[in-house]
Parts: sequence; structure tokens; C-alpha cells
Amino acid sequence: MPFRSRYTGLIDRYRDRLPVHDDTRIISLGEGNTPLIRLHHIPDIIGKDVDIYVKYEGLNPTGSFKDRGMTMAVTKAVEEGSKAIICASTGNTSAAAAAYAARAGITAFVLIPEGKIAQGKLAQAMMHGSVVIQIQGNFDEGMALVKQVADHAPVTIVNSINPYRLQGQKTAAFEIVEELGRAPDYHCLPVGNAGNITAHWIGYCEYSSAGGEVTKACKFCDGNCRFAGGAIVGNRPKMVGYQAAGSAPFMRGKMVDDPETVATAIRIGHPQSWDYAWQVQKESGGWFDECSDELILAAQKLLAEKEGVFCEPASATSLAGAMRDIKSGKIPEGSSVVCTLTGHGLKDPDTAIAQSTAPLINIKPTLDAVKHAILDNLN
Ligand code: F0G
Repeated sequence: MPFRSRYTGLIDRYRDRLPVHDDTRIISLGEGNTPLIRLHHIPDIIGKDVDIYVKYEGLNPTGSFKDRGMTMAVTKAVEEGSKAIICASTGNTSAAAAAYAARAGITAFVLIPEGKIAQGKLAQAMMHGSVVIQIQGNFDEGMALVKQVADHAPVTIVNSINPYRLQGQKTAAFEIVEELGRAPDYHCLPVGNAGNITAHWIGYCEYSSAGGEVTKACKFCDGNCRFAGGAIVGNRPKMVGYQAAGSAPFMRGKMVDDPETVATAIRIGHPQSWDYAWQVQKESGGWFDECSDELILAAQKLLAEKEGVFCEPASATSLAGAMRDIKSGKIPEGSSVVCTLTGHGLKDPDTAIAQSTAPLINIKPTLDAVKHAILDNLN
């Protein structure tokens, strides 16, 4: 058997493309390297011939794409001597911050909107021993507080305004290009703070500007990528960002003060990467759009029932929007499309159970009763 080295996380994998040194202590939980799953049934269901994939980021160690950014942010915080990190969060960032801080042996402070984060995420923050601060306000208010308090206390912010977060998250684009052999025609993402759509664009641009030989390069690390005016070769996708209708500042063209949606992860009205995201939209020739909560939940259920992939509601926004735009022809037949599924469905069991219509069959423990339950429910 040829020796195959163990996968040890995305910093090791893309070390020469990330701002780390040879002697940097890497804080990793083996994040990245997530499956790109080709959808087999959904093209038939929508009656269109498209090559559509989901990038299942829910299979990262804490169940969301945040781990990609957090491995970098915590690695650099530790390298710079920080003993504590802080974030505001709709749940996934706090879960990742808590886990990576535990791994590093430092303290995580997480500010979350009271009563508005999914159960699984709260459980993670608590289990990993972070200091959970619930605020009687929303994510945007928490974010504003975090930005202020960092000037008054020795804590490193690990929200996506920390540039190392985007550095880690750009590696998802590297993986997609490497797996498909090219960038897809369209890349669809759910948008909250808009850090992830920005990070993906950085990744695609670095890849294409280096012709596959990606080097350390982008505005965020003083390099030479597209953001800094580097030369472009190779293809890049149109970046499409979908928001929940009740939390859609990019559609309104301005900040939204009272965001509301069942997709609590993207219940954000004041995106931190506002300017970058518009830049991404313009440069890539993509667009923003919004999806109703009903459409988001329907896509989540369809994906789980027809493809066997369980994502959280916010994540299904990418698929919900893509399916609508494929149906309408805005995304033409023959296109290759990647939808990022940002978080695992197990993060939010309450929403899943509440919307499920699957029958729960209660029976006596007899062979006859089991037999009937089977025969009555065979398709
Ligand atoms: N999907 C999920 C599951 C998320 O948790 C988030 C953001 C997004 C999409 C949007 O990503 O902000 O980069 O545009 N969650 C953050 C958090 C805000 O605190 O966990 P974005």
C-alpha cells in the first residue's frame, strides 16, 4: 500500500496560500475537505438539465463553514499572544469560536441574541466551555458591542471582520476548483454578514490569477490577487447571494433594523462586509436575491427527502434561490452550479421537527403491528 498522509486540516493543506509561518502553532480540528455532492434528483424535479452540486460545509468539525475561518483566526490570535477571543453570533460562529478556543487553551466570550439561536449551537457554545453572554437584542446590536469592547478589554475579535477569517474561508473555493477541474459557472450562497461570499470570491480570484498555482495573494494579505489588481486567467463563477426576505438588506439597498426570519443564522440586518459584497457582485457579474421563509424551508425539506442531505434552514437559502433561478432560466440550462450548504441540519432540530410532515407511527410492540405499519406505508 502506498503511504497516504493523514488529512490535518486546511492550514496544512493550503499552507503556502495562507498567512502562516513554518513555526506557527496551528490550531486545527481537521476542518475543510468537505464533500461536493452532485444532486441527482433535483434537476429532474425542476425539469432542467443542470449540473448542480452542494458543498456540504455542515460536515466541518463543529458543523458549519465557520471552522474554516476559525482555524485561521484562532491560530493567528494565539500566535499574536492573545489569551481570549470574542464574537457576536447567530450561533455558528460562537460554536466554532468555543471549540477552537478550547483546542487552543484560551477563553472564548460569545455574545448571542437571547432566545434566537438554534438549540444545537447553544449546546456547543456551552459544552466547549465558552463564556456565553446572552443579550436582549439582535446580532447587529451584539456586533456593535463587540467592536466597542475590543478597545477596552484584551480580547481578539473573531467575527469575519477579522481578516484571517476570510483567509481560511477562501479555501472552500480552492477545494471546489480542484475537484471540478474548473470553477463552476454559478456559485450560490446564503448571505448574512456577507463574509463568506467575499471569502469565496477571494479564493476563486486567487486561483484564477495564479492559473491554478495559488500563491499567498489578496488585498487581505497585501498580495497580488484580483482585489489588488492582479492578472486574471481561467474562469470564475458568477457569485449569487440569497438572503431571507425578512433580513435582506442587499435587496432593500440599505441596512434593515429589525431583521426577522426562521433561518436564524442569517437574521442579520447590518452586514459587516457590505462594500466587499457589492464589489463581488459587480466583479463577478452575479446578483443578490431574496427567498421567503416558506421557500427556504421547502428547499431544506426537499434536499433532505430527495437527496439525503440535511442542512440547516439558512443553508437551504442557497438551494431555494438557485432552484427558482434555474426554473426561470436566469441560470441557463447546461450550467454548472455549486450551492454552499453552510451548516448541518442537526444544529436546529426544533425547526426541522416543527416543519416535518413525516408520520410518527405509535404501535404496540407486536409483530403484527410492525407488519401492518410496514405494509400500510410501502410506496
Ligand atoms: N449560513 C449559516 C449557517 C451561518 O451561520 C451564517 C452566518 C451564514 C450562512 C451567512 O454567512 O455571514 O458570511 O454571510 N452566521 C454568523 C454566525 C453570522 O454568527 O454564526 P455570512
